Amino acid sequence: MADTIAKVNDYKGKLPWWVAPITITVVLTAFGLYSFFIVLFGPTGEYGGYLLSPFYSPPVGAPDWLPVWLSPAAFILWIPLGFRATCYYYRKAYYRAFFWDPPACSSRAQQREPRSPENYRGERNLFVLNNIHRYFFYGSMVVVAFLWIETVRAFFPDGGFGITVGGLIFLVNVVLLSMYSLSCHSFRHLVGGRLDCYSCVTGGKARLRAYSQLSVLNRQHALWAWLSLFSVLFADIYVRLLMAGVFTDFRLV
Ligand code: FES
Repeated sequence: MADTIAKVNDYKGKLPWWVAPITITVVLTAFGLYSFFIVLFGPTGEYGGYLLSPFYSPPVGAPDWLPVWLSPAAFILWIPLGFRATCYYYRKAYYRAFFWDPPACSSRAQQREPRSPENYRGERNLFVLNNIHRYFFYGSMVVVAFLWIETVRAFFPDGGFGITVGGLIFLVNVVLLSMYSLSCHSFRHLVGGRLDCYSCVTGGKARLRAYSQLSVLNRQHALWAWLSLFSVLFADIYVRLLMAGVFTDFRLV
């Protein structure tokens, strides 16, 4: 794993500086539009009574006043979307990609920055909401807990235990989402980053151990961010293809 990451970083270093911001713009725009249409117009992504698309978990009922074109998933989706939008890594990524502020680290890229760095005054106006990232983390952990429940359900396709391709896709997805959430900078700070003296607090040793382990996960936070984004998308598309009858969920066991 470390070797692969080193190779990817090495390869990235050889690409022109504009490749990363343009790729991120395309991927985040596509993901945002996909989520938007799913919530507004898409039917609930559920197949066979045991595979519920991660976009709809936890399932909530639709109140009478809800317009028919709006999915009740809207009551939930703001949590994971807010969690990603306020994430420290994604903030760096979308400031670069959408605002070119700056577009990359190289001096050539910084010459393209529309605003002089001397005029930078921090995150203001709507962007002060980024400061509530920790609260989105709490909400997101609840959503991840429900996704684990849905994943267990996916291993009981007809009431009894069974392993299907869908169940495995859900398992990979929930593991990647858990890695993304647990490697969060805010969580690492809560567990131990804010302490100056571990031996001065109760359970200091355990917190230091947990902090060290989270720090290992945190080093690859960007990787977990992208892998989990793609896995959510993949799981939802897989469920929709099943619903459309393109293929059936192949049972392995
Ligand atoms: S910093 Fe990225 S999820 Fe918290």
